[in-house]
Amino acid sequence: MNLKRLRSEVSAVLDVVPIDFGGGCSVSKATVLAHIIQSERIKNSIDIGVYRGRSYFPQALVHTKYTGGQVIGIDPYSRVEAMEHDEKELQSEINKFVEETDFDDLYDTVEALRAQLNVERGSVLLRTTADAAAHDELAGRTFGLIHIDGNHDTEPVLNDVKNYLPLLDPTNGFLVLDDISWRSVRPAVDLVSSQLTLLYARVDTFNDYAVFWNGTSAAKKARLRAAIALAGEN
Ligand SMILES: C[S@@+](CC[C@H](N)C(=O)[O-])C[C@H]1O[C@@H](n2cnc3c(N)ncnc32)[C@H](O)[C@@H]1O
Repeated sequence: MNLKRLRSEVSAVLDVVPIDFGGGCSVSKATVLAHIIQSERIKNSIDIGVYRGRSYFPQALVHTKYTGGQVIGIDPYSRVEAMEHDEKELQSEINKFVEETDFDDLYDTVEALRAQLNVERGSVLLRTTADAAAHDELAGRTFGLIHIDGNHDTEPVLNDVKNYLPLLDPTNGFLVLDDISWRSVRPAVDLVSSQLTLLYARVDTFNDYAVFWNGTSAAKKARLRAAIALAGEN
């Protein structure tokens, strides 16, 4: 499919999902997620840390329109779970954000947007922690793409990586990790890097993410690197 068209469809979805301190998936990352799902015909993907849905709805759109599959969004929408402590320089902003956010309202808004955007068929929203979902609803299943953007403290993000690496499709699985430049996320980046191949990373003012893959074909790796770099460039 034409990348320009996909990017414009993704941008139209992002236009209705605001960016704020709590989340701000860029057009670049959203297009990369949508492109991988669409071009690799991935039927099942996971979005850990849905928040307002900037990484979730682009996946829901592609599944609804093109793959017939589903994204499973996972977010507890809970003040306790959203609190983070490891990045000291952000602490006061995080405290203020968590105290002032109405998580019940956020959840209701995302549920309503699934209907408004007409992507209910291609999406599921689980109001639970990534840890609980991995051991309960998702146990024994595999997924072609897993996006990890939940709690960014070292212990929870490492736990997400440990829980979800085994749920990747064993031969053609893509893992997208957010905020790779954060000190607290570094151990998770190192763990993923020790097991998967890095295909693409982008760190700048509006982007901070990396795409990893577990395939082994050198020719396909080269193709994916070129295609994802194109999708991520905007
Ligand atoms: C940075 S935001 C996600 C941003 C979103 N992906 C986007 O593109 O806008 C992090 C989210 O992770 C959620 N979260 C916190 N702890 C979690 C957990 N244990 N499992 C899943 N999500 C969690 C928070 O509620 C918050 O909505």
